[in-house]
Amino acid sequence: MSSVHPVPAEWAANAKINAERYESMYAAAANDPDAFWRKEAMRLDWMTPFTKIKNTSFHEADFGIKWFEDGALNVAANCIDRHLAERGDAVAILWEGDSPGEDRRITYRELHEEVCRLANALKANGVRKGDRVTIYLPMIPEAAFSMLACARVGAIHSVVFGGFSPDSLSGRIQDCDSTLVITADEGLRGGKKVPLKANVDEALAQCSSVSRVLVVRRTGGDILMKDGRDVWYHEAVAKASAECPAEAMSAEDPLFILYTSGSTGKPKGVLHTSGGYLVWASMTHEYVFDYRPGDIFWCAADVGWVTGHTYVVYGALANGATTLMYEGVPNHPDFSRFWQIVDKYEVDIFYGAPTAIRALMREGEEWVKKTSRKSLRLLGSVGEPINPEAWEWYYRVVGDERCPIVDTYWQTETGACMMTPLPGAHALKPGAASKPMFGVKPVIVDAEGKVLEGPTDGNLCITDSWPGQMRTVWGDHERFFQTYFTTYPGKYFTGDGCRRDEDGYYWITGRVDDVINVSGHRMGTAEVESALVAHAKVAEAAVVGYPHDIKGQGIYAYVTLNANETESAEVRAELVKWVRQEIGPIATPDVIHFAPGLPKTRSGKIMRRILRKIAEGDTSNLGDISTLADPSVVESLVTSRSVPA
Ligand code: PRX
Repeated sequence: MSSVHPVPAEWAANAKINAERYESMYAAAANDPDAFWRKEAMRLDWMTPFTKIKNTSFHEADFGIKWFEDGALNVAANCIDRHLAERGDAVAILWEGDSPGEDRRITYRELHEEVCRLANALKANGVRKGDRVTIYLPMIPEAAFSMLACARVGAIHSVVFGGFSPDSLSGRIQDCDSTLVITADEGLRGGKKVPLKANVDEALAQCSSVSRVLVVRRTGGDILMKDGRDVWYHEAVAKASAECPAEAMSAEDPLFILYTSGSTGKPKGVLHTSGGYLVWASMTHEYVFDYRPGDIFWCAADVGWVTGHTYVVYGALANGATTLMYEGVPNHPDFSRFWQIVDKYEVDIFYGAPTAIRALMREGEEWVKKTSRKSLRLLGSVGEPINPEAWEWYYRVVGDERCPIVDTYWQTETGACMMTPLPGAHALKPGAASKPMFGVKPVIVDAEGKVLEGPTDGNLCITDSWPGQMRTVWGDHERFFQTYFTTYPGKYFTGDGCRRDEDGYYWITGRVDDVINVSGHRMGTAEVESALVAHAKVAEAAVVGYPHDIKGQGIYAYVTLNANETESAEVRAELVKWVRQEIGPIATPDVIHFAPGLPKTRSGKIMRRILRKIAEGDTSNLGDISTLADPSVVESLVTSRSVPA
């Protein structure tokens, strides 16, 4: 059992939320949500004030989720315009390029101009309110400009992470029928070029909806510009006016779609709307990070993921913060890079992923210790469970035992933080997501859906709506209901396992469905399986997660080749390359285990429980295998298992 770190006295005295305030605000949100959220929503500027607040039900008969439904606002105006009078010359975005020496500072006034110009350019290129725009960009300021310009004109953005393949990109463009794509010639990550425009060209061969591509010049690399379709971003914005009125949007009008993996089928287009999402993003950004005006806030996530949406862009800018955007990776040019950036900009709050912490930890303390980091006040963790060893290292080595760590648990679906310790209110237990945010009502249920009380272990559900909850799956409302509200009727099921300890702290124990979390990137095992079986040599595939020192979970693929194929190192390499091409480098299998047969029940169902145990190397107790069609398959898999060190 690792240690408990009590709330430091100065945090208890000075933080926005101390223990007492947490309890009273939590109770207020639970007991009178309308009153609580009426007050919190006033943190935003509304064009039409709302009179209705919470109108939600998780039950089939009257299912629906609406917040502030008769109010109107514009998200971009809230993130920019309203700060101009007082903070126009304050830096909104601090941008640090992939290699040291390249940076940009964008004030709120400059951000306003950039976003207005681009918003006008979008309109000039046919984008109207409600249209979908796909953004496939590296971590450059234009990514934030693009998101905000869409919000300004009422277009719905769909950001696709630059590490996805042309095929994945085209699937995401087709699913929401985007009419315009914003990309760059190439991306730069750790000194390596990413052929973004070439990927778009390949993707668009299958997408008829797209009539325009705006191309940011990032590297100046040689690319193809298709006549009549492709337009240089800098030329489009140069022609456009620097004034663009912000569209009045209903609170329930869509703001963005973000694709995420589930346990079945294709990735889902998670849809977030305008009012509730921004209230939730802004509120959590302020309270979870104890944000103070003037703080330099660095969320190290890519804008291709929800963490980047909510904390690099929307939550931070809604609060008038200076948000740091870093293009590169933690180990380029060396392992000190993160902490050198912290020193360069005197970062107050650093929010990163456990996988990066574990990778840096492996390289030793010196890389960290040779930097000062004295500006840091608070650290955060997100995306996957953080193991206590990595937590303690982060606390001791990076934070010099001075900075609390907020381990924030949430999902693409939840819009922003659902559970976390608050630095002024909660003693820290390494690895615990700790306590629910205001308005979040967690319960732990058993397999039958019975709510378990006290210290316990089971499946995590949320019993009532919060403002930043996703509203639907794009184009498939039925799938939304089926996926999240039918396993335990009347409750939102997170898909996560969870334990509650004797102090009422929550500990996320990982996914209980067929979703794996690789370096904080969420992946459906079914997606990797369908990529594998699409290969001509593969007859059958089953994919599971297994514990990985750096990535948290690695991808372990059992593959049965067609009868006339021979298992070899070449075929293995070919399959790994194939999956990278089909989905993207983030889906690279760590292990391909050739399996002459897979363990199946007599009715033909693959026994994943057994495959997981073998992948984990936990073969002493495989449970009952007598129901298998051919129990000898298990023995052969156990003896042929090999996991790279
Ligand atoms: O399993 C949980 C894990 O990541 C999943 C959500 O992934 P995604 O939608 O990509 O969003 C990640 C960024 C918010 C969750 O179902 N997860 C996320 N944060 C934590 C976590 N598991 C444990 N502790 C966390 N802090």
